[in-house]
Amino acid sequence: MSSEVTAPDPRSTRRGEPLPETLLDEAERMSREEVRALQLTRLRTTLRHAYDNVKLYREKFDAAGVRPEDCHTLADLARFPFTTKADLRDTYPFGMFAVPMSEVRRVHASSGTTGRPTVVGYTENDLSMWADVVARSIRAAGGRPGHKVHISYGYGLFTGGLGAHYGAERAGCTVIPASGGMTARQVQIIQDFRPEIIMVTPSYMLTLLDEFERQGVDPRSTSLKVGIFGAEPWTEEMRREIEERLDIHAVDIYGLSEVIGPGVAQECVETKDGLHVWEDHFYPEVVDPLTDEVLAGGESGELVFTSLTKEALPVIRYRTRDLTRLLPGTARPGFRRIEKITGRCDDMIILRGVNVFPSQVEEIVLRTPGVAPHFQIQISRRGRMDHMTVRVEARHDAASADRAAAAKAITQGIKDGVGVTVEVAVVDPETLERSLGKLRRVKDLRQA
Ligand code: DLL
Repeated sequence: MSSEVTAPDPRSTRRGEPLPETLLDEAERMSREEVRALQLTRLRTTLRHAYDNVKLYREKFDAAGVRPEDCHTLADLARFPFTTKADLRDTYPFGMFAVPMSEVRRVHASSGTTGRPTVVGYTENDLSMWADVVARSIRAAGGRPGHKVHISYGYGLFTGGLGAHYGAERAGCTVIPASGGMTARQVQIIQDFRPEIIMVTPSYMLTLLDEFERQGVDPRSTSLKVGIFGAEPWTEEMRREIEERLDIHAVDIYGLSEVIGPGVAQECVETKDGLHVWEDHFYPEVVDPLTDEVLAGGESGELVFTSLTKEALPVIRYRTRDLTRLLPGTARPGFRRIEKITGRCDDMIILRGVNVFPSQVEEIVLRTPGVAPHFQIQISRRGRMDHMTVRVEARHDAASADRAAAAKAITQGIKDGVGVTVEVAVVDPETLERSLGKLRRVKDLRQA
């Protein structure tokens, strides 16, 4: 039976203007060889700094029989042990800081799903480097001095709000520090203050879009030109949805607290072909999540980062749990790119032996007529079998026949594309929980 899912090419064909040469910073003009030489010098300094100042690193290096001076080439990094979130938890709160507390100017923390949060710290130089990489990201996205930047990433212990904030100031922009929540007011502020740029999670952008429509405002008529979206996985289909409904460029920003926060990697608006890693500060590797083996460029696996300039919290081979692959640079040839993150090792649902990622479901839902881009995945147990239900909201104008057709199309799309049989429930508009920041797509009811 043929799938009823219509499948337009999901790739956005919109492209923005390349950054003028004069706005590229020194590192962005470097050749690949120059970047690699800089990385080796900085890597050796970082390994020494971590070994001399953090007990956990000293113990791990000693146990693995490696010393900082054993790093002669970038490839030698593979001899050093990995660092994980568990290491940060075990040394909670400040045990992995490599400078005295009097030199730490700020801390952030990530909530984590269970137990203790992980705490990260920044010296004055770290904060300045962070502002630089976020400013560089905003320029790559199409932001220019004089633009107004509406920031709806949450302010607080989360790195999103303050990370974007100081980067936008560093880029010479005017910051509108909206933070998350109070959605109706955000829509009002966007209309009144007329920002060119918005920085927000893609799922909260959808919440804002619905609010525009509820207030009778055409989202395509706003002053916004560029959206810089990250902090959670999103697909090419979601890019298309957002670009069309808002008439903007939607580009991807990536980062994680342990490595710095937002601004580790950024998509360039003129290519929209994955995210350039700001490799003068962060050294990426991709490893096989099961064997730990370092993979060659182009091979998919778990992304691992080593910081190259951080003082308060140097990270050595930090396992991100994020899945992607490394590709050569395009718009910034000195730096490699990562492909859009498709998911996390932790997000993978194993349903009756088949691996399912929420992003696969997102792709299928977003190209199905009759339903809104709001969905939730529920996992439950029926007898001894795990069962997956995809709950999707109908569009306001969908008749009951459209709903039935959509449910059938999504069920078939998942069966053909992913290889599992799931139940699809098309529910009434505006009945699923809305995102206020990072969205949790999967609800596991098996323990409940
Ligand atoms: O989410 C930092 C950030 C804030 C990035 C704002 C971008 C924008 P954490 O809370 O530590 O930090 O969560 C990091 O979020 O390991 C990924 O799993 C996920 N993530 C972040 N950016 C992306 C992205 C911030 N562009 C974790 N695509 C990471 C997919 C992303 N996943």
